[in-house]
Amino acid sequence: MSFNTIYLMLMSVRMAPRLPLIFLLMIHGVSSAGWGVSYRHSHICALKNSSVIMSCTYTYPTGYKIKKVFWTTNPVKGKESPDLSEDPEYRQRLQYLGDKQQNCTIRLSHVTQKDEHKYYFRFTTDKADVKWIGDPGVTLTVTDLQVEAPERVTEGHNVSLTCKSSCTLTDRATFIWYRNSQPLTERRDRNNQLLLQSVRREDAGRYSCALHGHSYISPAAHLSVTYPPVNPVISISPSGEIKEGESEISYS
Ligand SMILES: *[C@@H]1O[C@H](CO)[C@@H](O)[C@H](O)[C@H]1NC(C)=O
Ligand SMILES: *[C@@H]1O[C@H](CO)[C@@H](O)[C@H](O)[C@H]1NC(C)=O
Ligand SMILES: *[C@@H]1O[C@H](CO)[C@@H](O)[C@H](O)[C@H]1NC(C)=O
Repeated sequence: MSFNTIYLMLMSVRMAPRLPLIFLLMIHGVSSAGWGVSYRHSHICALKNSSVIMSCTYTYPTGYKIKKVFWTTNPVKGKESPDLSEDPEYRQRLQYLGDKQQNCTIRLSHVTQKDEHKYYFRFTTDKADVKWIGDPGVTLTVTDLQVEAPERVTEGHNVSLTCKSSCTLTDRATFIWYRNSQPLTERRDRNNQLLLQSVRREDAGRYSCALHGHSYISPAAHLSVTYPPVNPVISISPSGEIKEGESEISYS
């Protein structure tokens, strides 16, 4: 806090109880506006093929006029940073949602693993040589989904399936589950887990998971339900030997 601010604050305490304090905060907000970029998230974990919003605001001292606003990746010192919206890899997928005053938010759609970079907002002003790049940038990680499940479960047992992502998704979304491509309504245990209680033969099948409102679906994992025989089973092996016991019937 500057000397001026403290002085004003003392005055405001002495003069009148409430109004001057608000006035003071307004003065302070304007006079202290320096160069700066702030990002809502410095790391974003997004699902493959989804749209990512990188929220961002920026400030600059009064007296400057903003000439150009753009985003860039992996800047190199001493080199002019390329504008991503002119890059053929990004042009169709990048949308600047911000403005030329304070909002520098962008949306990048259909993200793939190739988009895993650090992204920076950059702006230039009407005064030559005054440019600003906003550290620390936004680090983007793109994940797919994988179903983790045992290969087989015995009839009557409980089993829990997990929908795994390689990073913790920034947007908390609801997981949805499919068996043989049909959506399921079974109870979800934790957000990304499907709990099958007292498994029946009909539970066998190919399980995949997805996020509500997203098009990406995980590869399927196959779950078999084994059925322990009530009576000993006699089976004949290809060699003609007669064996007793322990065989299992499997539904898949
Ligand atoms: C910036 O713009 C985006 C898109 O229009 C909007 O959703 C967001 O609320 C704005 N942020 C601020 C801080 O004004
Ligand atoms: C399955 O889960 C239910 C509810 O949590 C529990 O009551 C039951 O004992 C469990 N069954 C087995 C075989 O673990
Ligand atoms: C990617 O998303 C679009 C809709 O946003 C969808 O039409 C397309 O099928 C998706 N691609 C894959 C591979 O999931």
